[in-house]
Amino acid sequence: MKPDHLIPDPFPDLAKGEVHVWKCALPQDTSDLAGQFDMLSGDEQERADRFKVERPRRQFIIARSTLRSLLGRYLNRLPSEIIFRTAEHGKPELHYPEGRLQFNVSHSQELVLLAFSRSAPVGIDVEWLGGTADHSDVAGRFFSGREQSQLQALPPADRPRAFMECWTRKEAYLKARGFGLSRDTRTFSVSITGSAGEVLFEDNDDPSALDSWSIHPIQLEQPADYCAALAAQSPLETVKCLCLW
Ligand SMILES: CC(C)(COP(=O)(O)OP(=O)(O)OC[C@H]1O[C@@H](n2cnc3c(N)ncnc32)[C@H](O)[C@@H]1OP(=O)(O)O)[C@@H](O)C(=O)NCCC(=O)NCCS
Repeated sequence: MKPDHLIPDPFPDLAKGEVHVWKCALPQDTSDLAGQFDMLSGDEQERADRFKVERPRRQFIIARSTLRSLLGRYLNRLPSEIIFRTAEHGKPELHYPEGRLQFNVSHSQELVLLAFSRSAPVGIDVEWLGGTADHSDVAGRFFSGREQSQLQALPPADRPRAFMECWTRKEAYLKARGFGLSRDTRTFSVSITGSAGEVLFEDNDDPSALDSWSIHPIQLEQPADYCAALAAQSPLETVKCLCLW
């Protein structure tokens, strides 16, 4: 089975100033991933085969084949014609066809999110809410003082979700800028509760970022046990969420 048959027809236009966020659930029946696997390049197939654990392998195959399908539609190319290159800290970018289409991918448990924009760099992050990590310990090591104070001010029952909301906003921002986790996550602060456009509070390494980057919480609705955020270089007019089931 290939992801192509899930892609809507007509395919939506991606306007300037707009970001498309595609949501894709990992298929329950994974007995036949051959179609998706065949869509990958030789390097990607080798990478898929190096995974020792089943779920990350499945996530990678589904995410990469879906990325190829969607890029193919946006760029009017066959999925197999797309060639990626990797930027300094590991962010995949388009090498062929040349152009300014920007994208980013995130996967967690059974969900994949893919973000696309015409020219603004984008970063996306999705996290499953069912983990058992000690939130206060992780926040103490990776959140700025300002973020830790916001978290502590919330009722204890609200903190696990707020922690994850905060984490996805931070990671989306770092992914949009291409740093990934190579950058110290305590050098900038996001708001835990603010809405789109008000989420980035301060960036000690780049104070001008408040004018040039924005972070948007993504309301997934379904499935309920995930949270997600998108970051993009401003100005950004619309974030449109689309589903591939
Ligand atoms: C990118 C990173 C934040 C991913 O975190 P994660 O929560 O495990 O994974 P997610 O599912 O949200 O995102 C993974 C996807 O992000 C993309 N990605 C990888 N590096 C990225 C970066 N620096 N910036 C933006 N996106 C990146 C990839 O598409 C990757 O998926 P793929 O490998 O299947 O193609 C983390 O792995 C990281 O920081 N890696 C870089 C490490 C680094 O700094 N290395 C330095 C030496 S190059």
